[in-house]
Amino acid sequence: MSSSLPSVAALDSEIQSVIRTAGDFARQEFEVFNFDTVEYKAENDPFTYVDVRTEELLKEGLSQLIPGAGFTTEEAKSQATKNGWEWIIDPIDGTSNFTHGIPHFSISVGLAYQKKMMAGYVFQPVGEVMYHAQKGQGAWENERPLRISPRADLPYALVATGFPYSDMGWRREWVDLVVNVLDAAHGVRRFGSAALDLANVAAGRLDVFFEFNLKSWDVAAGSLLVQEAGGLVTDFQGGNDYIYGRQIVASNGHLHAPMLALLEHFTALVFPPTGKS
Ligand code: IPD
Ligand code: CA
Ligand code: CA
Repeated sequence: MSSSLPSVAALDSEIQSVIRTAGDFARQEFEVFNFDTVEYKAENDPFTYVDVRTEELLKEGLSQLIPGAGFTTEEAKSQATKNGWEWIIDPIDGTSNFTHGIPHFSISVGLAYQKKMMAGYVFQPVGEVMYHAQKGQGAWENERPLRISPRADLPYALVATGFPYSDMGWRREWVDLVVNVLDAAHGVRRFGSAALDLANVAAGRLDVFFEFNLKSWDVAAGSLLVQEAGGLVTDFQGGNDYIYGRQIVASNGHLHAPMLALLEHFTALVFPPTGKS
């Protein structure tokens, strides 16, 4: 496997097949899930045997496709890459929805080469919706090409975000910021799966998504979907540290500058040049 894009394209259907198989397992378990089996990594940070087994199924299948590729996954220890390729995986994004019987959850699989995203897959097992993108090739929802929304005025924009629930630092400042976004935009949504929020920006349903404290596995795949659908993804300062930097703004591009302006006060508090972060 070389670094060239056509190799990724050649693997696309096999990658999708591995993800669909893992998704079938997650959907079947969702239908019979018993809340009493939920475990906790920390207070308010639940996981289930479905998160763990779905991740194992993904790793078993994907490791066959690019031998030597590394894995960064939510539920197990990372495996270093031997050849520059790396899978970045959240087996169930939206675990709280899953455990409460809400069908809005996804599998998020990003594929990077030398830290650059080359492909991204966000699969919604309930409904079997596959969002996928390849660097420079575009983004699709199943077979349909994706395009970001044309809305250019914040007062008409539908914006999604997330609220902190395990790391409670800065939650009051975050709520103050959300109030400012509520004042400026048409509406704010909190759906509970960051990967699907990003997919919905790519699909033009949402105009903006922003969140604080996300991990690489939450955003790696979805950020490529947005970019390949014509949108813009940055950190809160407009820079490129949105996969590992715990700060992401994804938009249709038109609304990016006004959104960054709304974030300015929060960003100055939380990410000062030096001090608490
Ligand atoms: C969570 C979801 C949620 C976001 C949280 C994430 P998980 O992922 O993406 O939308 O607000 O910050 O941790 O825990 O369900 O994989
Ligand atoms: Ca997640
Ligand atoms: Ca997860």
